Amino acid sequence: MTAPTTIVSAPYVARVPPRWRNEVEGVLIAEDQIARRIRVMAGDIARDYANRELIVVSLLNGTVMFLADLIRNLSLPLRLDFIGVSSYGAGTESGELVFTKELRLGVRGRDVLLVDDILDTGKTLFRVLGKLRALRPRRIKTCVLLNKAARRVEAVEADYVGFEIPDVFVVGYGLDFAERYRNLPFVGVLHPHVYKRARQRRCPDRPRSACGQRQG
Ligand code: PRP
Repeated sequence: MTAPTTIVSAPYVARVPPRWRNEVEGVLIAEDQIARRIRVMAGDIARDYANRELIVVSLLNGTVMFLADLIRNLSLPLRLDFIGVSSYGAGTESGELVFTKELRLGVRGRDVLLVDDILDTGKTLFRVLGKLRALRPRRIKTCVLLNKAARRVEAVEADYVGFEIPDVFVVGYGLDFAERYRNLPFVGVLHPHVYKRARQRRCPDRPRSACGQRQG
């Protein structure tokens, strides 16, 4: 397995396209860096799973771009399924996980690759791994594009990591803030004024921690 690339937040690698400049302060990881890194990750996965049929389980919604690029580079027989999980179910507070779609394929005795866009506090992967292990797969490995180790709460690590990133609010390439910015082709850092304003609108009278924005 190849070591992940470590990214520091400044100086940024490229200028933000004018359309996004008011909201996104810098390009943390450019499109071509992402593409190159994913090809290496796909090579590592293909080697580790040679001669096995893989079930790729991808977490909705943030993996949309990463998953598409990862599996088109994976020259292995595979089947694909999704689990819907979100920290923002209707009427819930940040941090409370809600499952919006369950797995449909049987994974018992199978090789599973669990894909997520970002490993942040680890609450999502920890919970999903618990659910999957109960289904008795032969082996589960985890693959994330981004690892923000500084914010970890649960003891969980990914087997394949694209980039180690600092504790900054990243959007783009599938990652959102309030469902926006998923379509940016790069990983960018959101201007703090965007999420500070939103937090204040949501819960002006509450301590920040009670209204914290989970990454992703
Ligand atoms: C985001 C992201 C990860 C999770 C990581 O999902 O896609 O799944 O948070 O955070 P954690 O390590 O702190 O659990 P989110 O619930 O925001 O849903 P989304 O995928 O639809 O953006």
